[in-house]
Amino acid sequence: MTTNDRLYHIGFGRSDLGFLPPAIAFLSGDPERARLIAEDYLKDVRTLSEHRGLNSYLGVLPNGKPVLSATSGMGAPSLSIVVNELVQVGIKTVVRVGTTGSIQPEIQAGSVVISHAALCRQGAAHDIAPMEYPAVADLYLTMALVNAARQLNVDYHVGITASVDSFYEGQERDEISANHSLLPQLRGQTELYRRLHILNYEMECGTLLKMGSVYGFAAGCVCGVIAQRSTGENVILEQKMSAVDNAIRVALQAAQQYGS
Ligand code: URA
Repeated sequence: MTTNDRLYHIGFGRSDLGFLPPAIAFLSGDPERARLIAEDYLKDVRTLSEHRGLNSYLGVLPNGKPVLSATSGMGAPSLSIVVNELVQVGIKTVVRVGTTGSIQPEIQAGSVVISHAALCRQGAAHDIAPMEYPAVADLYLTMALVNAARQLNVDYHVGITASVDSFYEGQERDEISANHSLLPQLRGQTELYRRLHILNYEMECGTLLKMGSVYGFAAGCVCGVIAQRSTGENVILEQKMSAVDNAIRVALQAAQQYGS
């Protein structure tokens, strides 16, 4: 069902959200993950839109709290559009449920990384705040994610995430990339970030966190680890399902306990 207050990109509006509209959204890069969260983890699910692959579903948590499971698409430009529109329909809390590549040897595939801040090397974020503006997660939401991981006995790590604009060049992928002319300033970057105690690479968190502070909504991020960059460049497909399941369960448990 769509109405005439629907927003251009996400394809639904406030009036599609019913009498008890959700205040919290889970945001996946992959539309299939947004669908998975809705179909396998939520109750009373209703499809809001699958416009442009930006799948959005309305559902309720086991404790009856209404939530959205939405899609950011890949990277910060798409995320910035979706998040702007989610705020326009009344969303007050956004939890990114993503996937990531660990750059620290002790952070294994299958575990989760909870970002309390990000090194934000993302062009879209420059349109929202000055480059130096901190990309920090909501403190209380982050604690809720940490508590959820503890309660669920999920292997978790909390720290700083590197959010970049590309999966190959920006994350110093050389061997599995079609581009064999990596810019000199990107060579050695992963080792530098490792020494700066950055935990992981991904492509959306930093811009989301800056938007949270600028717009005035609570932003948090939990990502399942699907690549271990101390040992290789490829995604470890055998660990992907458990990493994603861990990130989803942590996000849902945190949402049940966070706020009202
Ligand atoms: N997403 C990323 O951006 N990088 C990875 O290595 C894995 C997932």
